Amino acid sequence: MFSRELEVNGSLVEINQVECGDTGVVVWDAALVLAKYLELISGKLSGKSVVELGSGTGAVGLVASVLGANINITDLEENLKLMNHNIKVNENIVKGKLNASVLKWGDKDAIKKLLEKDEYDLILVADCVYYKESLVDLVYTLRELSNKNTEVLISYEDRDSQIKIQVLRDFKELMLRYFTVKEIPLEDQNEEFRSPDIHILSYTPIPK
Ligand SMILES: C[S@@+](CC[C@H](N)C(=O)[O-])C[C@H]1O[C@@H](n2cnc3c(N)ncnc32)[C@H](O)[C@@H]1O
Repeated sequence: MFSRELEVNGSLVEINQVECGDTGVVVWDAALVLAKYLELISGKLSGKSVVELGSGTGAVGLVASVLGANINITDLEENLKLMNHNIKVNENIVKGKLNASVLKWGDKDAIKKLLEKDEYDLILVADCVYYKESLVDLVYTLRELSNKNTEVLISYEDRDSQIKIQVLRDFKELMLRYFTVKEIPLEDQNEEFRSPDIHILSYTPIPK
């Protein structure tokens, strides 16, 4: 394992990553950008009920918890151990309730379990919009977990491959059927942790 530290409101969040594994075992730049944006809006986070999809190492969720949010971090089964490990390592600095569970996008039972626990004010998603096969399931999961007051914050990095560009386009088009969107301007993001090729989108549900 190798770790990196992220300073958040005076606390050092330790994020352990592993050398071998799929995309979820390291922290992606879009996660760091989103995490440091959360620090800037920490007033909106304290005591809020949050769920993170495709958490990987759990970095964004850990930061949300340090900022006082109650959060469920979720990912595929294969990342549960790493998420739980990172929760344990940071247990002295997290403030809100923090829990890791398995949620494969589109899994109705897992979504139901999360909804039985709480209603969510905020859903966080960092660097998850490039899987063609699960795009519809991701949008479905975001819709199911949202209520009329939920905000969905999604960060992503521009990619060069035509397939990934098309997946992002399709994702945005599908999302617009159910959500309105605004992009968080670069100047509203953390000065050190921002980049013109990393975007944060804020979605709010269109009333049914
Ligand atoms: C590029 S990684 C990003 C990880 C983390 N959010 C970050 O930015 O550091 C994409 C994440 O999405 C997860 N993922 C991919 N397909 C998924 C699916 N169908 N259901 C749930 N999670 C999925 C992966 O396991 C991985 O953790």
